[in-house]
Amino acid sequence: MMILRTLYLSLLVLSLPMSSLSRHISTSNPSSFKVALIHRDSPFSPLYDHSASPSDLLQRSAQRSISRLRHMSLVLAAESSPSKLQSTVKAGPNEFLMKVGVGTPVNSFWLIADTGSDLSWIQCLPCERCFNQSVPIFDPKSSSTYQQLACSSPQCQALAMDAGCYGEYCQYSMSYGDGSSTSGPLLSETFIFETPESTISDIISSTTSAKQTTDHGTSAKIKRLAFGCGTSNAGSFGNDNEQGLVGLGGGPLSLISQLGRSISNKFSYCLPSRLDENVTSVLNFGENADIQASDVSSTQLIQLEGNPTFFLLNLTGISVGSKRLDIPPLYFDPTQNGEPFLIDSGTSLTILGPDVYDKLADEVEKAIDLPKTDPPRPFSLCFEVPDSGNITGLPNITFHFSGNADWINGPENSFIPLDDGHMICLGILGASQGMSILGNWAQQNRVVEYDVGKRMLSFAPARCGEV
Ligand SMILES: *[C@@H]1O[C@H](CO)[C@@H](O)[C@H](O)[C@H]1NC(C)=O
Ligand SMILES: *[C@@H]1O[C@H](CO)[C@@H](O)[C@H](O)[C@H]1NC(C)=O
Ligand SMILES: *[C@@H]1O[C@H](CO)[C@@H](O)[C@H](O)[C@H]1NC(C)=O
Ligand SMILES: *[C@@H]1O[C@H](CO)[C@@H](O)[C@H](O)[C@H]1NC(C)=O
Ligand SMILES: *[C@@H]1O[C@H](CO)[C@@H](O)[C@H](O)[C@H]1NC(C)=O
Repeated sequence: MMILRTLYLSLLVLSLPMSSLSRHISTSNPSSFKVALIHRDSPFSPLYDHSASPSDLLQRSAQRSISRLRHMSLVLAAESSPSKLQSTVKAGPNEFLMKVGVGTPVNSFWLIADTGSDLSWIQCLPCERCFNQSVPIFDPKSSSTYQQLACSSPQCQALAMDAGCYGEYCQYSMSYGDGSSTSGPLLSETFIFETPESTISDIISSTTSAKQTTDHGTSAKIKRLAFGCGTSNAGSFGNDNEQGLVGLGGGPLSLISQLGRSISNKFSYCLPSRLDENVTSVLNFGENADIQASDVSSTQLIQLEGNPTFFLLNLTGISVGSKRLDIPPLYFDPTQNGEPFLIDSGTSLTILGPDVYDKLADEVEKAIDLPKTDPPRPFSLCFEVPDSGNITGLPNITFHFSGNADWINGPENSFIPLDDGHMICLGILGASQGMSILGNWAQQNRVVEYDVGKRMLSFAPARCGEV
């Protein structure tokens, strides 16, 4: 029988410098690489639903935003509570996938790309409990590069409340908001990140024949990355054919932090418009994450002591057109008891607390000279589009971040076309969860760079998907 001994090491984690784990992975790792981020509803995705209309897909994705907000606020509440005695809630519904090779020889998997959690994990043999997945489950014993990590390893200690020991070896155990969970040994392995070009060519050829991923020679091979080898995975996983997760958060065990200085603590992504179905997003690590543009804005990334995972921003105001909403200046400052405002790629829509949302929606309504129409859930402000399709006068909605960084949302970043283009809805929702999220719809066609070392977020307008 397996005995999990919980380690009470949360204080130790707080004092771990961001990149302290990076010296444990191989120094021969590449210093910059890029991978494709595939939206779960795109035709390139293994989750693509051919029978759904574009409006259905957008509406479902909007619904997922609400469930994700709930997950995120549970995580935040659990992790900022000083008496954190249970292992915490992780992840939640997500929007992007990436294809990742694991082990030697390589097995490839579709994994959730999650900026809201840290530890990566996949299903592993021997399964005590596994959900069905469409490719064989990873067997570490058949890989020549896996290593078990000891309880005393810094990676195990960084897991803190989510770690236990089995003999001298480290076990991880994580639970999710809906009662799902994953646990198993904490291992290190070789991970292979294919270039976006090889991923796309693999996807196109895999529709004709089932095959293992081949090494195209240009992929990035990361050695000795710590990850969870999930031998007991229960709950709601598997419904969506996911095979595990890559953690891209700010905590010590995330991919970013483990790569640390080798990628200069930086990554960026560029998400094209979801209405352009044949292009994919790119996630850049290292020096090639730098933004090549003249109109770059930068603002501070705030990390909360109790939660290094989430990337929070200091939002100091919101304008609709030229009208600045009446919001107290420290409303979104989490260090002053304000509402945390986080940037996330796994949430589609932007979600604001009810007071701020009401002010925003009032101004948007005043600015738009189109008839209002019944909003489909979860939207709450929608307009009829005239038969001519001629929509004019949609206002810019600007988020003002500290450091004079204005994030200007043009109409295509704030409004969502539904009902075959006969309706447009405000793609910003109001919800009362004690936190707000800048979602991925507002991030489309913009390069967004996270410099985790300098704790800066930079962004600039871009046409994403044109490589
Ligand atoms: C898992 O797959 C097996 C074989 O394909 C099938 O018999 C079984 O019903 C599946 N289980 C679930 C829960 O889908
Ligand atoms: C996307 O690609 C498919 C197949 O190549 C093509 O049929 C479709 O027209 C393309 N869609 C757009 C919007 O370009
Ligand atoms: C669209 O509407 C604007 C303002 O109502 C008008 O000036 C313009 O001519 C219209 N364009 C078309 C193509 O109908
Ligand atoms: C919206 O912002 C853009 C800059 O991103 C600017 O060029 C445009 O004039 C603004 N539109 C309005 C109506 O102010
Ligand atoms: C957020 O910005 C406001 C206004 O610039 C500033 O007063 C406040 O100290 C900032 N908060 C943090 C945590 O930097």
